[in-house]
Amino acid sequence: MEKVQQSINIYPCPTAKPKPGQQSLGFGVHFTDRMFLMDYSAEQGWHDPRIVPYEPLQLDPASMVFHYGQSVFEGLKAYRTDDNKVFLFRPDKNAERMNRSCDRLNIPRIDESLFVEAVQTIVRLEANWIPVGNGASLYIRPFIIATEAALGVRASNRYLFAIILSPAGAYFGEGLKPVRIFVDDHYVRAVRGGTGHAKTPGNYAATLKAQTEAKERQHCSQVLWLDGIERTYIEEVGSMNVFFKINGEVLTPELNGSILEGITRNSVIRLLKQWGIPVTERKIAIDEIVRAAENGGLEESFGTGTAAVISPIGGLFWNGNDIPVNQGNVGSCSQKLYDTLTGIQYGRLQDEWGWTVEC
Ligand code: COI
Repeated sequence: MEKVQQSINIYPCPTAKPKPGQQSLGFGVHFTDRMFLMDYSAEQGWHDPRIVPYEPLQLDPASMVFHYGQSVFEGLKAYRTDDNKVFLFRPDKNAERMNRSCDRLNIPRIDESLFVEAVQTIVRLEANWIPVGNGASLYIRPFIIATEAALGVRASNRYLFAIILSPAGAYFGEGLKPVRIFVDDHYVRAVRGGTGHAKTPGNYAATLKAQTEAKERQHCSQVLWLDGIERTYIEEVGSMNVFFKINGEVLTPELNGSILEGITRNSVIRLLKQWGIPVTERKIAIDEIVRAAENGGLEESFGTGTAAVISPIGGLFWNGNDIPVNQGNVGSCSQKLYDTLTGIQYGRLQDEWGWTVEC
């Protein structure tokens, strides 16, 4: 792993933008006053970590990221607790995952402790941007792009690592709201051996057409992705990992190389095990879910991710049929997981796991 010896340089930030009001927070539309940057060159490795005023980046139009998509990103949140502390949730896991994504995209690894230190430092500087209120947080978006100006198809010799911050409102403004899901057996999100397990923009670009069609044609807000080979086994839902509770057992697709290793997914599995609820990671065929729904065994289903934390699924649309899940209601497991995870994140519940890191 690349070791960075320099400390982070903090440059003056002369202007402070007006902050958005609670009602107009939304998700990913406002950005704070500063950003973190660090460069990579083949000669110098990762160097010059710095925090500078937030402004447009100047990039050569031939920068390799624009042409061949060599890029990775992460997503995590900073939460303000009732007693005015600032917590991050398992940021070391984001650093580890970013390096796994870098490996797949042929991008040089970054120092994981520097990743966490950079996040902590910029969040501390921008702490007055962390919104208060139920479900509000500061969304943190670290990303790396290939910046060498060249059109040959090969790995870039230059990269930029950046962290930007965006104050965000609650994902579900009025509490958890189950969503209707389109099961897609036409488009696929990822294939084994591809980039599905990496957090890289191409995986998200590949989902947009299917998501638009699911909305327009079936009024479904997200797509349930099946495997790219047999179009049989469930992989993810929207940009989240997916869980099903059938006859008291919770099932989630096993990590197979085309599924993102979600940090919320991992936390949910650990919580369920602690609560004595059986949880199994294995291949799950869509037919198995349909049969469980038909014979009354499908108790609930939900997606897990950083943005929504827990997103209950109220129904599936598959093969021309509507399959209700828990009569469109929020399941007790979904609610308990949401309350526990957000309770830990906002410092309202004791963090016996050591998942929270103070800024
Ligand atoms: C998440 O919630 O974990 C996501 O990946 C969503 C993000 C891409 C907006």
